[in-house]
Amino acid sequence: MNQSILVLGREKNICLAELESLYPNLTSSYNQELAEINLTTSEINLFNLGGSIKLAQVIQKIETKNFNQETDLINCLQIIIENHLNQSSKHKINLGLSFYGFKISLSKIKKIQFEIKKYLKNKNYAVRFIPNENLFLSSAQVYHNRLTINHNLEIIIGLHQTLKQMVIAQTSQIQDFNSYTNRDRNRPKRDSRVGMLPPKLAQIIINLATASSTTNHHQISTILDPFCGTGVLLQEALLMNYRVLGSDISAKMIDYTSINLNWIINQEKLPQTNYKLYLADATTFQWPIKFNYLATETYLGLAFTNQVQPKIFESNKQTCNLIIKKFLINLYHQIDQTTGICLAVPFWTYNNQDFHLSLIDDLTSIGYNLVKFTLVNGRLVYQRPGQFVGRELLVLKKINKKDNYESR
Ligand SMILES: C[S@@+](CC[C@H](N)C(=O)[O-])C[C@H]1O[C@@H](n2cnc3c(N)ncnc32)[C@H](O)[C@@H]1O
Repeated sequence: MNQSILVLGREKNICLAELESLYPNLTSSYNQELAEINLTTSEINLFNLGGSIKLAQVIQKIETKNFNQETDLINCLQIIIENHLNQSSKHKINLGLSFYGFKISLSKIKKIQFEIKKYLKNKNYAVRFIPNENLFLSSAQVYHNRLTINHNLEIIIGLHQTLKQMVIAQTSQIQDFNSYTNRDRNRPKRDSRVGMLPPKLAQIIINLATASSTTNHHQISTILDPFCGTGVLLQEALLMNYRVLGSDISAKMIDYTSINLNWIINQEKLPQTNYKLYLADATTFQWPIKFNYLATETYLGLAFTNQVQPKIFESNKQTCNLIIKKFLINLYHQIDQTTGICLAVPFWTYNNQDFHLSLIDDLTSIGYNLVKFTLVNGRLVYQRPGQFVGRELLVLKKINKKDNYESR
């Protein structure tokens, strides 16, 4: 079957938006846990996807209307695993089962594993099941038990409640969490006061900006980050083979970005000439080099907690709104309608209520439309549990002046 399944990361909306923008043939979201694409796994580059954690090849799809969940599932898995063992000429393998979209107890999973083991033992095969602490195995469990290599297997079983359909797939790749940790923690310059953009989120921002553009993708394209901070986004963009331009209002940040980019260039042996940095205020600067995409995490405001006084909270929110709005107005005359734009802007959870930037409700008045995604319900937000400042992703398109917008 030429179909693949992707297991989505924690923030389902942004993970789906990333996939939808890159793969127009994304067919359905499996209960917001899995996405399905009409491509083989070799046609999908998991290493450039920040939002997906596992990639699997679909083996079988089953209508579940008259399906006895436990017995029929055991029969089906036995045949799949036996076929796999026959083809691999191995008699002993590690095996993992991961369930998505299911309501099934861990004791039921144990029972399914026991029955399969018994069946295969009778056929002279020995399988070792990785014990499920949850309905699905973590990427670390898949990695440490080598389930994507040496003929071992992780089988993903996804249930689509509304379509009454079940998908069974074999994991071929997992997200390279070691490399993300290295890129995040081992950068020579870090600064917790300007926030720590996770490299995965930087990749998502880049993908949303570049996929939304109508630029010709054949030439090497250039990405601008006008709030480059310590350069996480630019570092990820270099790794994805883009030319990069960065600017920041702080000389210290420009210095940090330069050190960090030289570090990744040396580590990955990338071309030295692919970046340029400017000390500049994003609300007024004219970038001297043409760029195809704008991908950034903007100024996020002061780093404080839920305990902050209402007056300080309000003024911080207004400052962020003003800087980002002035930046968007300044940008308008320096781009055209083919420029792909994705910004991560702040939002706040204060006294159990979410507060978003007011400019988002008024984007058309400054010349931009917000791009919408079919499979996404709600805002594109990224926020760790308990975090006061979250990020909201805005994918924007410049409105043509003739289409009833008068720039001011
Ligand atoms: C949250 S950090 C951005 C992180 C960055 N995108 C990255 O990938 O690491 C925000 C940055 O915005 C910069 N900044 C604040 N106001 C600015 C302005 N008006 N123009 C340019 N940079 C500004 C700050 O110096 C800070 O480095």
